[in-house]
Amino acid sequence: MIRGEAVGLRYGGRVEALQALSFHVPEGAFRWLLGPSGAGKTSLLRLLSLAVRPSGGRLEVLGQDIGAAPRRSLPPLRRRIGMVFQDFRLLGHLSAFDNVALPLRLAGRPEGQIAADVAEMLRWVGLLERLHARPAELSGGEQQRVAIARAVVTRPLLLLADEPTGNLDAAQAARLMQLLKELNRLGTTVLVATHNDALVARYPATAMRLAAGRLLAPEADDGD
Ligand SMILES: Nc1ncnc2c1ncn2[C@@H]1O[C@H](COP(=O)(O)OP(=O)(O)OP(=O)(O)O)[C@@H](O)[C@H]1O
Ligand SMILES: [Mg+2]
Repeated sequence: MIRGEAVGLRYGGRVEALQALSFHVPEGAFRWLLGPSGAGKTSLLRLLSLAVRPSGGRLEVLGQDIGAAPRRSLPPLRRRIGMVFQDFRLLGHLSAFDNVALPLRLAGRPEGQIAADVAEMLRWVGLLERLHARPAELSGGEQQRVAIARAVVTRPLLLLADEPTGNLDAAQAARLMQLLKELNRLGTTVLVATHNDALVARYPATAMRLAAGRLLAPEADDGD
């Protein structure tokens, strides 16, 4: 599913945000991505979501060598990946409904199916009654839940979530974990970057730990 060999990422040719990362995430796995602020969690998720290409090493995502793949092969690959951004990245002029519908429309799904799928997802995150609201009319936690709904509505093969509980209360965070665990059970590979130690303690899974742009040696895990 995902394999990195000595992967590096440099910003602006200078700052080495990630250095020599070697890792393997098998299909169907659930992984926490942990580490202090600035350790490189978002940077690694950017690489895995194909927003940027590695500046060194070899990275394979969904069976494709990302460094070597021709540019035109990336968009179809990206459509199989769901990403919950740390800063949500909702489109301000679109309603909650239309934000969640966007990836389905881009994929050319019929409107009838889109309406049903979007409603189901918004119900799941508890926002069905807010479907007409624009992001500016939603609380931080509500916006985060729209972003989560948008990332999972396409039923991606790989789901990347960057601090997805940062704006959620404990009950909402627990609900999100149920959703992620359920997706994972159905076969989606899931990576979740977080600072939420209580959540990690409550839902034990193998962790990838970053510190200053490097991956620490993996600890004994509990299986996947
Ligand atoms: N666009 C950028 N240009 C230059 N440097 C960047 C850029 N984005 C991130 N960095 C640097 O790369 C390093 C890793 O940042 P990153 O955002 O990946 O950390 P993080 O682990 O996600 O932190 P946080 O927990 O605060 O979200 C930091 O030193 C950061 O300053
Ligand atoms: Mg981050």
